[in-house]
Amino acid sequence: MAEIVNVGLIGYGTVGKGTAEVLLKNKNLIFENTGIDIRLKTVADLAIDTANPDELLSLCEVVTNNAEDILNDQDIDIVVELIGGYTFAKDFIISALNKKKHVVSANKALFAMYGTEIYQAAELNNVSVCFEGAVGGGIPVLRVIKEDLAGNNINEIFGIINGTANYILSKMEKEGKEFEEVLKVAQELGYAEADPTFDIEGIDSAHKIAILASMAFNTLIPFEKIYVEGITSIKQIDIEFAKKLDCKIKLLAIAKKHENDLEVRVHPTMVPDVELMAQVDGVFNAVEIIGDMSDKTMHYGRGAGGKPTGSAVAGDVISIARDIAAGCTKRTPILGFKKDYTYYYPIKDIKDIKSAFYLRFSVVDEPGTLAMIAGVLAKYNISISEAIQTDERAPGEAVNMVFMTHKALARKIYDAIEEIDKSDVMRDKTVAIRVKELV
Ligand code: HSE
Repeated sequence: MAEIVNVGLIGYGTVGKGTAEVLLKNKNLIFENTGIDIRLKTVADLAIDTANPDELLSLCEVVTNNAEDILNDQDIDIVVELIGGYTFAKDFIISALNKKKHVVSANKALFAMYGTEIYQAAELNNVSVCFEGAVGGGIPVLRVIKEDLAGNNINEIFGIINGTANYILSKMEKEGKEFEEVLKVAQELGYAEADPTFDIEGIDSAHKIAILASMAFNTLIPFEKIYVEGITSIKQIDIEFAKKLDCKIKLLAIAKKHENDLEVRVHPTMVPDVELMAQVDGVFNAVEIIGDMSDKTMHYGRGAGGKPTGSAVAGDVISIARDIAAGCTKRTPILGFKKDYTYYYPIKDIKDIKSAFYLRFSVVDEPGTLAMIAGVLAKYNISISEAIQTDERAPGEAVNMVFMTHKALARKIYDAIEEIDKSDVMRDKTVAIRVKELV
């Protein structure tokens, strides 16, 4: 007789529905692939009308408003948490682990902020925790790091891991509109949340790069050490200059390993058009991983949405079910490495990281302005690689002047900008955007 693995799912929102769809509609295929009868036995959500469940839910044995129905069911082997948020989700997951249930989640914020407590509870109870759906929606990237690239020293991982921000930047580029206008339309169309703060301020990307960097570099990442800069101050004029420079402005999450420390950061970045990453448009996500043996691998797909994320969640359920059937629970460590859950590497201060910069100065168009700016940059040992001034203005009017720099310490760039911004010729604050180096 086929092994039966029972699953309980809490949170019947977009991803919950998508996960139920994968597990129920593709049940026969999943059986063919695994030889295991994976049953979505219970779905719990406060908002479900239990008297009139939808067509999908009517395929489950139990439909309930009470999360305890999952925790107290001894037949449930795997619990899927898709409610999001911190407190209730964490308590629920830890209760499930303490009841020796395996856990699958897509809750990136929870794992980035409070993962350690959950990992320790899982170890203590000898059960698995997986969260493939937390990063990159439908893109299978966590398992790639933990399993397929386990023979590599990963030196760098970077990507576009927030679809909302990428959608906004792509629209700004294609339609020539300002950030506020594009955001408003994105909200009306449902591409951006009513409260888009986490997406547009880079926080969601930071949660995801914390998880990626942990798995890639075998260490925990203290979330507060990640440098985070969002896309709210990107202007159409910078996108136009980016075009002239054969670049796209993208919200990149970047993590790099050095001999004694790490860089982990999220910020708008000028990405040269020749990089595949520059071609990732709209709501799509992409992650590039550079291993010492594999070299570059690029992983691209839908970073959000019910069915794509549900596919990743179901992948975790299937992987755990296979382990259960094979009697080898926890075959792969939660973060892909067998060490205790501590911090191993210091994280570099953003000011100590070198990058090439795009600097846009809004200045009065008069003799001596360029010389003043170039003089201050030289004083801080910042070398210019290219200068553009396209707009023509009457003497005395503001004009945009763009300098591209060679690689320079951010600390020096910040100091130079502070000094330049004090000058009477400046009409607005200087805009500084890091430029992606070709790898
Ligand atoms: N809010 C995320 C995004 C999707 O816009 O990419 C879920 O991780």
